[in-house]
Amino acid sequence: VDAASGGFVAPFLYPDLEWDFRLPRVKSINVSGHKYGLVYASIGWLLFREAEDLPSDLVYEVDYLSGTTPSFGINFSRGSHTIFAQLYQLLRLGTEGYTEVMEGLQRSAASLTDGLRGLQRFDIHCDNSDPKVPVVVFSLREESPVTANSLTKVLRKYGWTLPHYPMPGKVIRPVVMRAVMRIGFGEKEVQELLRDVVASLEEIDADLATAVPALVR
Ligand SMILES: Cc1ncc(COP(=O)(O)O)c(C=O)c1O
Repeated sequence: VDAASGGFVAPFLYPDLEWDFRLPRVKSINVSGHKYGLVYASIGWLLFREAEDLPSDLVYEVDYLSGTTPSFGINFSRGSHTIFAQLYQLLRLGTEGYTEVMEGLQRSAASLTDGLRGLQRFDIHCDNSDPKVPVVVFSLREESPVTANSLTKVLRKYGWTLPHYPMPGKVIRPVVMRAVMRIGFGEKEVQELLRDVVASLEEIDADLATAVPALVR
């Protein structure tokens, strides 16, 4: 299972959702530790149900320091600081702490979703039903004269970096914006972002209203 972000969300928010080793055919799971695991980028986990599920020709026996040790790595030499940081977070927060963090992020995602929906300028490409990861995906309505490009550009002035890209698809490819909730992004920040989205839209609307009509589109 390529669990990526969800692998660090589902165990805490949806413990009854069976996607993991409870399913007999799941042999290995990869999880991104750096996304919702609260550790800086470059840590991820690859778990095998049984040691035998890891092909032995991928494991090197290394004579190193004080004896022979088996080594399996995607690349060989790398710092271990993120591993210790992850271990620290796991020990410190535990299931209870991570669940609290994830619940807070979902509250922020739900609040941002509701706030954006209330502005009536956006199509929301996610809903508040479970299971979900704390991410809000939205696009400007098709009839909107404002583009995602101009909105995100103006939002930068307010200090927000909002990624935007076209959704894959042959016919309709809305340019979506994506807000990933991370720890520290609570209700206060949600309201600040909404406030700045409104201000940016007003700014662009005003520019468009005064533009020479032929240049508008
Ligand atoms: C489904 C999926 N698998 C794997 C990855 C790669 O994860 P990582 O950044 O932890 O290497 C991603 C990254 O976004 C992903 O979305």
